[in-house]
Amino acid sequence: MRISVIGCGYLGAVHASAMAELGHEVIGIDVDERKIAALAAGRPPFYEPGLPEILTSATASGRLRFSTDIADAAGAEVHFLAVGTPQVAGSGAADLGYVDAAFESLLPYLADGALIVGKSTVPVGTAGRLAERLAAGAPHASLAWNPEFLREGFAVKDTLEPDRLVYGVVDDHAASVLDQIYRAAIEAGTPRIVTDYATAELVKVAANSFLATKISFINAMSEIADATGADVTALADAIGHDARIGRRFLNAGVGFGGGCLPKDIRAFTARAEELGRGDALGFLKEVDAINLRQRQRVVDLAIEVLGGSVFQRKVAVLGVTFKPESDDVRDSPALDVAVQLKGLGAEVVATDPEGLDNARLRHPQLDYTSSTHEALRDAELVVLVTEWREYRALDPSRVGGLVAGRRIIDGRNVLDPVAWRSAGWQYRGLGRP
Ligand code: UDX
Repeated sequence: MRISVIGCGYLGAVHASAMAELGHEVIGIDVDERKIAALAAGRPPFYEPGLPEILTSATASGRLRFSTDIADAAGAEVHFLAVGTPQVAGSGAADLGYVDAAFESLLPYLADGALIVGKSTVPVGTAGRLAERLAAGAPHASLAWNPEFLREGFAVKDTLEPDRLVYGVVDDHAASVLDQIYRAAIEAGTPRIVTDYATAELVKVAANSFLATKISFINAMSEIADATGADVTALADAIGHDARIGRRFLNAGVGFGGGCLPKDIRAFTARAEELGRGDALGFLKEVDAINLRQRQRVVDLAIEVLGGSVFQRKVAVLGVTFKPESDDVRDSPALDVAVQLKGLGAEVVATDPEGLDNARLRHPQLDYTSSTHEALRDAELVVLVTEWREYRALDPSRVGGLVAGRRIIDGRNVLDPVAWRSAGWQYRGLGRP
C-alpha cells in the first residue's frame, strides 16, 4: 500500500521503516530538516538496535522516502499520525499541539477514500474530536486509532511482530485496510482487537499505567523490605511464580523513566480529572510518588554509605539512560540521581555506552567519560543506575583495584551481593539485606 507516516520521531521513524520492510511504499514526513536529512541518508537520529539495517535497506530499495513537505503525503492511501504528545510544562496533561497541527496540515492532501490512522498516545476522546473535524473538513476520508506498544530497544521487533493489534474504528472498511497493512502479523496469528475509538485510546494508557503500577508496587515492597531485613528480589521471585501475577516488570530499583510511562500516567490522571473521575485514578499519583521516591532513596543511600555527606567525594555513576539498549535520557532516573548527587557537591563522573551525547545536552554541568574504567578510577563510591550488560558483568576484584573505596550501590538490584561482598565491597541494593 502507499503509506505516509507523519512525524518521524522514535515511533514514526521505526514505523515508517518497518512498513517499508513489509513491502509497502512509504513516505516519512517531519518538520525537522536535520532529522529528515539523517533518515534519508539511512542514519537514525537515535540508537535503536536493528533500525539502521532496515532503514538502509528500505531507503536503498526506493520503498522508503522522507520529506519535510506535507504535500508529499498526498498520494498515500493511508496516513499514520505518529507525532509526539509531550507533557505540558507545569501540568500533567498531554500537549496535543503537534497532533492537531499535523492533522490540520494533512486535510487538504487527503485523496478520496484515504484513511488517517492515529498512532500517537492521546487522551481518550481525541479521536472522536478529530473524526468530527474530518467529517466537516474532508468527508471523503476516514479515521482509525491504532495504538502502538513498542518498547525502546525492541522497537523493530515489536513493530514487525506485535503481541497484539488494536483497531479503534467506526466501520469495517477501516479494519480491512489495517488488515492489509498488517497482513504478515495477522497471518502469523497475532491477536487483533477491533473496537471503538475510546477503547483503543484507553488500551494504550491503561497498559502503561498497569506496567508503571507493577514497578511501583515492587518498589513499595522494597521499602518495606529495607525496614524489615527482607529481600525484595526473593519476594518478587516467589510472588512471580503465581501465574496471575507473573515475574516480569517486578524488578525493584531506581524506578521507571523514559518518554512514555511517566508522562502517560500523568496525562491519564489529568484526563480523568477533566472527566470528573479523578478519584478513579488517584492511585496513579501514588505510583508516580513511589517512583520518584526511589531516586531519592538512592541519593540518601549514597549519603549514608559515604558517612553522612557526598560533598567533594568522587562518585562514579554507571548509566545515564532510562534503561539499557537505548540512548534515551528523557525522565531518566539514572541521570536524575547523577544530577542530584552533583547538586549536593559530589564529584560525579557519569558514564554510559550510548547516552552521553543526550545527557551532555541536558546536563552539561556533569563530568562524563565514555570509559567505564575512567569513571571508576579513584571513585569512593560506585552507583549502578542503568543495568547495561557490561556493568552487570563487572568483576568485583578487578574493579576493586581501580577505585579508592570499595563501596557500591546497585540501583537496579542486578549484581550478586555475595560475590561483591566477598571481594571486599560494601554492597547496598534497594530492598536487599
Ligand atoms: C514502555 C512500554 O513498555 C511500551 O509498551 C510502550 O509502548 C512505551 O512505554 P519503554 O518506555 O521503551 O516502553 O520502556 P520499558 O521497557 O517499559 O521500561 C520503562 C521503565 O521501567 C525503564 O526505566 C525500566 O528501567 C523500568 N523498569 C522496567 C523497572 O524499573 N523495573 C522493571 O521491572 C521493568
